[in-house]
Amino acid sequence: MKITWCENPAALGALAADRVCDLLAKRPEAVLALPTGHTPLGLYAELVRRVDAGQVRMDRARYFNLDDYLGLTDDHPLSYARFLRRNLFVPARIPDSQVRLLQGHAADPQRECAEYDAAIAHAGGLDLAILGLGVNGHIAFNEPGASWLWRTHVVTLDAQTRATHREQNGGAHEIPEQGITMGVATIREARRVLLLASGKAKQAAFDALVRGLPDPRWPVTSLLGHPQLQVMADAALRPPPA
Ligand code: GLP
Repeated sequence: MKITWCENPAALGALAADRVCDLLAKRPEAVLALPTGHTPLGLYAELVRRVDAGQVRMDRARYFNLDDYLGLTDDHPLSYARFLRRNLFVPARIPDSQVRLLQGHAADPQRECAEYDAAIAHAGGLDLAILGLGVNGHIAFNEPGASWLWRTHVVTLDAQTRATHREQNGGAHEIPEQGITMGVATIREARRVLLLASGKAKQAAFDALVRGLPDPRWPVTSLLGHPQLQVMADAALRPPPA
């Protein structure tokens, strides 16, 4: 595991964008898994800036999202599909043909999960999974206690996750009780993993990762041992010198 400390969110966004651009330079048709949340906003803004400046093209790569709420249409204000469309796909001029998003409103969610895994396999597997980190250590919507053997699945969201999201959302919308998410098994099969961690609220989860012991109470620790795990973190999360 390689950790790079970033002084501020803009630095983290720029460094993560370098990583994505390096991959796209080598492999323009790369397959990526993308996170939602506040943390990747700097990355997406920087990628859009580079597309506008003609420094990178993102229109040949393939994109999957990590997770979404269950039961929302993709134009709902809370929908992760909507978030990615607004913050990345539209401004970075990525055509719909390159994007496969989890259908949170699928009539048959179990079937959607199986079809999603099949679509990732059909694309040749993930070249890069970019992840955020939940306050409770979740990656995507893999909550504490979730099996690390699961692939894409429906999940009942943790009370803490729903409380955090309710707060972020100012109580404007009722947070769904369930989500749909790539499983830890799906994520760990990615050839490279880039974890972005930002904000003091993530300290306990980040400390669990840095301790270096796989622990099902902290899903992020499932990434330990991945041969190509890179972590970019807020300098505020740096453990004090021993
Ligand atoms: C949500 C998402 C995760 C995301 C996490 C962190 O729970 N399901 O995929 O990584 O939030 O969000 P933020 O970056 O806003 O802290």
